[in-house]
Amino acid sequence: MIDFNRSREIFLKIYDSEKLANKIEYYIGRHESKVKFFLMFCNKNRWEITLKQNPMMKLALIYAFLPTVWDRYKKKGIPEEIFFDTMTDIKIWIDDHRARTDEDGVFELHWLMHHMNLSIFKVGRLQYQKCIWYFKPAKSQNGTEFKFGEKVINMHIPRGEKLDYDACKESLPMAKEFFAKYFPEFPNNKYMCYSWLLFPGNKEFMPENSNILKFQSLYEIVQSKEEPQPAYLWLYGLKTKNSDLMKNKKETGSYGLIDQLPQKSSLQKSTAEYIKNGGTFGEGLGVIVL
Ligand SMILES: CC(C)(COP(=O)(O)OP(=O)(O)OC[C@H]1O[C@@H](n2cnc3c(N)ncnc32)[C@H](O)[C@@H]1OP(=O)(O)O)[C@@H](O)C(=O)NCCC(=O)NCCS
Repeated sequence: MIDFNRSREIFLKIYDSEKLANKIEYYIGRHESKVKFFLMFCNKNRWEITLKQNPMMKLALIYAFLPTVWDRYKKKGIPEEIFFDTMTDIKIWIDDHRARTDEDGVFELHWLMHHMNLSIFKVGRLQYQKCIWYFKPAKSQNGTEFKFGEKVINMHIPRGEKLDYDACKESLPMAKEFFAKYFPEFPNNKYMCYSWLLFPGNKEFMPENSNILKFQSLYEIVQSKEEPQPAYLWLYGLKTKNSDLMKNKKETGSYGLIDQLPQKSSLQKSTAEYIKNGGTFGEGLGVIVL
């Protein structure tokens, strides 16, 4: 059963638009049997089956499933504040979809399904995901090992707020306490983050006092590699392929697409010059043992 009243009530606290809620309900009304069919799988945490659906169907499934997520939070005793903080990501990705297409919907259900599955939580400034170590083995300086397949907490950085160093630092013990309290069976001492923000080469072009470099200092970087696509996505909003950017660099000495890069923030401006001069973007894998 789809409980439109409860879905609406929760959704409006996440995305304050009656107009959008009406539109989603109208869409569900027109595709009710399909929505109900997919919800059976969502209920069993099998969101993968929905991932090829169109962006409006993806949003409809999130909308219809919100009361179930809410009930699961309540059952575990997780505070409402964590629920709504976590679900702000739905707003981020609805807005992102609209900015890209001028339409309502979401592309990122492969990401938001983890929020729906009670696998990702926003605790303070950062998001934390129950995950496994899927990289080659690593060891932190204090000798703690990160072995393939073992449980770790994977950290993510949502947009929408500055990456304030103190807020990030405070968020870590809050997360440790959160997992100890609500998921005591999940180890809460090993944290990882794989991101363009943690690429050691960022020091080449970011100002020393930037939040991104301060954030990097929270981690021990255990692996890194050249990979320009994430910086193109997160810094410029451009969807590209690593292989194309690397090919450009091989042929011309630069990843290219310079004339497509927005030039709004100081970092966007300074990196355009950096790219022209053959600069390197990449990703870093950082660990924290708490
Ligand atoms: C993480 C994030 C919040 C850091 O922003 P921040 O706190 O402003 O970081 P810094 O202090 O280092 O930024 C210094 C300058 O770079 C700009 N900048 C930083 N990240 C930027 C981004 N992703 N896009 C455009 N400009 C950015 C800032 O606006 C600032 O410029 P200004 O002086 O003109 O205002 C920001 O990069 C962001 O929202 N990223 C998207 C999410 C993301 O990357 N997640 C990780 C995915 S793996």
